[in-house]
Amino acid sequence: MKERILVTGGTGYIGSHTVVELQEAGYEVIIVDNLANSSVDVIDNIEKITNVRPIFVELDCLDYNGLNNLFIDYPRIKAIIHFAASKAVGESVQKPLHYYRNNLVSLINILELMPKHGVGGIVFSSSCTVYGQPDKLPVTEKAPIKTAESPYGNTKQISEEIIRDAIISEMPINAILLRYFNPIGAHPSALLGELPNGVPQNLVPYLTQTAIGIREVLNVFGDDYHTPDGSCIRDFINVVDLAKAHVIAIQRLLEKQQKQKIEAFNIGTGHGLSVLELINVFERVTGIKLNYKIVGRRAGDIEQVWADPTFANEELGWKAVETIEDTLRSAWNWQLFLKEKGLQ
Ligand code: UD1
Repeated sequence: MKERILVTGGTGYIGSHTVVELQEAGYEVIIVDNLANSSVDVIDNIEKITNVRPIFVELDCLDYNGLNNLFIDYPRIKAIIHFAASKAVGESVQKPLHYYRNNLVSLINILELMPKHGVGGIVFSSSCTVYGQPDKLPVTEKAPIKTAESPYGNTKQISEEIIRDAIISEMPINAILLRYFNPIGAHPSALLGELPNGVPQNLVPYLTQTAIGIREVLNVFGDDYHTPDGSCIRDFINVVDLAKAHVIAIQRLLEKQQKQKIEAFNIGTGHGLSVLELINVFERVTGIKLNYKIVGRRAGDIEQVWADPTFANEELGWKAVETIEDTLRSAWNWQLFLKEKGLQ
């Protein structure tokens, strides 16, 4: 019998790619999503790619009783991947209480229900935002956690602490925290990708929307940083590579006999790329001349951050393998797919 995995936020950007990889690795997936920032059509596209339709339950993880019933309706869930959360940095400054409630109460509900229903493992979507501007680059998991720059970032830090404290209290679970760097790109089928609501805040969706003519110009936030070309540097990680890290994390949780263990892993490529370099690569692989202009810095941006992924490479046996060229090509193909379908 297939092992059953619950994926909260499974119709979202990273969640949907992870569901594909889980199903291809032979797991049975149950998706829980409130569709606040995603579309139910994603389920059809996951089925087209994998020939398996995941079980989908429309539910908000803030609904404790609803979640409790879900665990009763679908017994024998072995582990959970918890993606469901609000994730826009700027919006979190405007609506901090929404962010704290949504991101923290959902997690608490899940943690409370896990031992009640015999679920032994959780993979948590964390972020390199917990490191702030690191003193040393590349950043390892041992780097100190810095004061958060936004309520969103703070929810990731507090969530990590909540999981850690739950395990210290001898709750019978294991946890893996995956600290993502900058996930970009789309599924090679072009059937899944990032579909932001409204005006995108993140670089690559804004860039592809500019290239296709939805946005007039891409603003590059600052060229006066202390970096070789003056623009910020990030570790851009392909979303399918990132999704595969979750499958390995799940396998590790299911194999582990030892209880009450928490581990954190950096999920990045180990290479920093500047915003201007990324634009260059995009222009080269697509042959499109991008309309961009340099504007002032964006408040709260970190100058440069990239991962030391050695721990994940050695301990998980996971490594980012996709090239930046293929990754940006996939983001572009996804944008073309959205246009063809009239979705954007
Ligand atoms: C941010 C968060 C990260 C979160 C991610 C997803 C921080 C420090 N980082 O990443 O935790 O997981 O969002 O929402 O909180 N840029 C432009 N023009 C644009 C958009 C972006 O020049 O129109 C630049 C930014 O200034 C930045 C880089 O591109 O230097 C990447 O920005 P973005 O894609 O928004 O991601 P982060 O801010 O790195």
